[in-house]
Amino acid sequence: MKVLTLDDFDLKGKTVFVRMDMNCPIDPDTLEILGTKRIEEAIETLKSLEDAKVVIASHQGRVGNNDYTGMDKHAKVLEKLMNKKIKYVEDVIGEAAQKAIKELEDGEILLLDNLRLCAEENYEFTPENAANTIMVSRLAKLFDLCVLDSFPSAHRSHPSIVGFPQVLPACAGRIVEREVRNLDQIMTVAKAPHVIVLGGSKVPDRLEAIKLLIQNGRADHVLLTGLIGNVFMRAQARIKSPLGIKREDEVVAKAHTLIGEYPDVFATPVDIAIDKDGQRVEMDVREMGKGDKIFDLGPKTVEYYSKLISGAGTVFISGPAGFFEKEKFSYGTKSLLTAVANSMATTIVSGGHLTTALKQQGLADKIDHISTAGGALVLYLTGEKLPMIKALEEAKERYSTNS
Ligand code: 3PG
Repeated sequence: MKVLTLDDFDLKGKTVFVRMDMNCPIDPDTLEILGTKRIEEAIETLKSLEDAKVVIASHQGRVGNNDYTGMDKHAKVLEKLMNKKIKYVEDVIGEAAQKAIKELEDGEILLLDNLRLCAEENYEFTPENAANTIMVSRLAKLFDLCVLDSFPSAHRSHPSIVGFPQVLPACAGRIVEREVRNLDQIMTVAKAPHVIVLGGSKVPDRLEAIKLLIQNGRADHVLLTGLIGNVFMRAQARIKSPLGIKREDEVVAKAHTLIGEYPDVFATPVDIAIDKDGQRVEMDVREMGKGDKIFDLGPKTVEYYSKLISGAGTVFISGPAGFFEKEKFSYGTKSLLTAVANSMATTIVSGGHLTTALKQQGLADKIDHISTAGGALVLYLTGEKLPMIKALEEAKERYSTNS
């Protein structure tokens, strides 16, 4: 491996900073955690660190969004899963956090509050500048080792990801180790046609990735669902009313340009389902009225997409096709996952929502690679080097030179 792993270090008695990604789906009304998959995944790394003093740091949601919460509920979930006391501090870089870190005993685990409470963690930095942030300057001196295990945020150049490895020995945690090993293997056997099924709501990220995927020969067909699908349908003037999303004019214009540049690549839904007085109502996209909100795909779209999936050499699916948490709108997501599971292609399923849906359907065994990572995995597949992986590779080079 081009990166160091936990097996390269003597961990006993060391104080270890572990960057996890415990960013979970959150119920917008109750603020309860809806799916705990990413917290469950953290356990393997924590078990490897059982003789160390462990400090977990993670973000949750984005500032201003309704999934932006503290990490107190995550601490409770982890405590239950590990059957072990998890210390929690409502602080990230202040005196309370520093005190709690210094007081840790061997074998104890402390979870810091949402990293994005610290303004710096909401910006991208060069690794050198990230090393000079207040977060890294204050905290790094308290640690012996930095473990990067937040593969879903491997595409972010945030201080907690690219800053600490500049000033501390750094290695991959078990999740990152497994992802890098599996994906490297899969990419060597991946063959055309490459079918990408993209849903989800992080539209600007998705648009950037789509362009790179096509340019790098990794997307022969892009089948669009979810909010990104709506953006393309708006660009095609098939949805008449504004979608009411952030930076709408800009993202619709970008989608329009992409359709113009690659007219044969994109497929968008022909029929959809809306919520009318609590009922699922299916209709052709052209029949949609003003104010109708799309909650799922219709059967014609599912049939068309499933055919393309069954003829693929490689299928990558990321992001739910609709509001799958509500049973009556889970049809599109479940049907596409079934088509992916039944195809002869090399299959990759990405993102927390789809991982949960796949598990619910009992289809996980039929998929070649399942990852809770969304945007990071899309970018990995474009062939771009992710900032976290670059940071880990450079940390290995530095470590080998210095030791
Ligand atoms: C994700 O869920 O994709 C990661 O946790 C990254 O979150 P972000 O897109 O808010 O940086």
